[in-house]
Amino acid sequence: MLDDERIVELRALGARIGEGVYFGPTVYIEKDFAQLLSIGDGAVLSQGTTILLHDSSLNNVIGAAMKFGEVNIGERAYIGANSTILCGVTIGPRALVGACTLVNSDIPADAVAYGQPGRVMSTVAEAVDRQNTLRAQPDKRHFFVDTTPWRERTESEYAEFNASLSRGIDQFLEGIDSE
Ligand SMILES: CC(C)(COP(=O)(O)OP(=O)(O)OC[C@H]1O[C@@H](n2cnc3c(N)ncnc32)[C@H](O)[C@@H]1OP(=O)(O)O)[C@@H](O)C(=O)NCCC(=O)NCCS
Repeated sequence: MLDDERIVELRALGARIGEGVYFGPTVYIEKDFAQLLSIGDGAVLSQGTTILLHDSSLNNVIGAAMKFGEVNIGERAYIGANSTILCGVTIGPRALVGACTLVNSDIPADAVAYGQPGRVMSTVAEAVDRQNTLRAQPDKRHFFVDTTPWRERTESEYAEFNASLSRGIDQFLEGIDSE
């Protein structure tokens, strides 16, 4: 798998970015301070994620010192769409940050956090239990497709996934039409 050119550039600027990392569209990272960034293997930054590595707000307003800080994102952590991560924050391995979260404090490994500011709401294992409960009920708003994580999917698994997805969409829409 070829690395995204945004990742290649950030590494050249001093960021430590592991393998199998995915950046969605319109990810914004302060390149000027790239040395302050580390992202572990297999982490995902969904579309619209912003990572800030400094804060010049007080400097602009009254000439106070500028603040800088590292952002560390653990392996396989998942940052939901349109989240903003402020400088000085560590997100643990396999943590899940919900969509539109303002991350201004550390999030431990294997935790689900969301909100403004982001707060730990559960563990990932508990979120999986909730999803399985939802899946077991007649839920007309969602459907589910079993597959391996994107970075581990083989070509044949991709083909299988695409076929299951297309069947799932058809069945889901037929279910809606027949109501
Ligand atoms: C956080 C997330 C994983 C759901 O986790 P969960 O623990 O299963 O949460 P639930 O869906 O059971 O919702 C529990 C409560 O949290 C709220 N909630 C869920 N996600 C939220 C979010 N991102 N921000 C604020 N509140 C959120 C729900 O509204 C619900 O509130 P209620 O109890 O008042 O009804 C999911 O909502 C999410 O944000 N996923 C990321 C989606 C994304 O960014 N995808 C990008 C493309 S893949």
